[in-house]
Amino acid sequence: MELRDRVAVVTGAGGGIGRALVGALADAGARVVATDLDVPEVDGAAVARALDVTDAEATAALLDEVGPVDVYLANAGVAAGTDPMDTPDELWETVLGVNVRAHITAAKLLLPGWLERGEGYFVATASAAGLLTQIGSAPYAVSKHAAVAFAEWLSVTYGARGVRVSTLCPMGVATPMLDTGADEGGMSAAATGAVRAAGEVLTPEAVAAAVVEGIGREEFLILPHPEVLTFFRRKADDYERWLAGMRRLQESVSR
Ligand SMILES: NC(=O)c1ccc[n+]([C@@H]2O[C@H](COP(=O)([O-])OP(=O)(O)OC[C@H]3O[C@@H](n4cnc5c(N)ncnc54)[C@H](O)[C@@H]3O)[C@@H](O)[C@H]2O)c1
Repeated sequence: MELRDRVAVVTGAGGGIGRALVGALADAGARVVATDLDVPEVDGAAVARALDVTDAEATAALLDEVGPVDVYLANAGVAAGTDPMDTPDELWETVLGVNVRAHITAAKLLLPGWLERGEGYFVATASAAGLLTQIGSAPYAVSKHAAVAFAEWLSVTYGARGVRVSTLCPMGVATPMLDTGADEGGMSAAATGAVRAAGEVLTPEAVAAAVVEGIGREEFLILPHPEVLTFFRRKADDYERWLAGMRRLQESVSR
């Protein structure tokens, strides 16, 4: 899709990848609506609004206000939670709510207009954890797999009717999510250790540039770390061997 003069909504735009997405989309000529829990102050935003993505009514009100929306970037995410034995049910609800339920809510609201107009673009920020797994955080691994699954489903079901879908699956990106400790709602030490051990930590700007390119090419999988494709292929090629390798990584970062 050509982004010039398109209306693009970015969630979780107050920092990290979301903030960089706003800048990159604006540079590509889109009219960007930046949203986060608090009104984000972001360069390049034509409109900035507070939006809790787990609030379906607020999401509907925002889309009514700024629509028709051409591109929706479901980017807000949380990386809380560790082992199922140590993760309270409410935290599972929060992680699943932000990382996948919010995508379903937005798609439900956007699809009727997109199908009527015969076009629309949904970009789900998932993670390499959605194709592989996330050592140290069951809720993150599960919710990101679900986000990839939902994006796939949208693409399969509505691709022929003009709905484009991409899913962004990076490994480490230098954002508050990776830099904030578990005590402040960020990733556990085991999870960040695994992310850092897995490969290069990219800048949010590099990731945002890959997203704009991916939208231009209308590619489903946007992989700013190209090695994720190799890992994904190895997983499919020999699941047992992949699991054994991941167990070794798990042990090395838990020590
Ligand atoms: N940083 C990484 O290493 C990495 C890797 C792969 C994927 N991701 C994904 O990228 C996305 C952006 O994360 P980031 O790395 O920029 O971290 P971040 O913590 O800087 O950004 C996440 C944003 O989501 C917002 N948010 C959280 N709950 C929300 C809610 N209920 N409603 C609206 N906004 C909410 C936060 O306020 C924050 O601004 C997330 O989906 C994350 O899972 C990050």
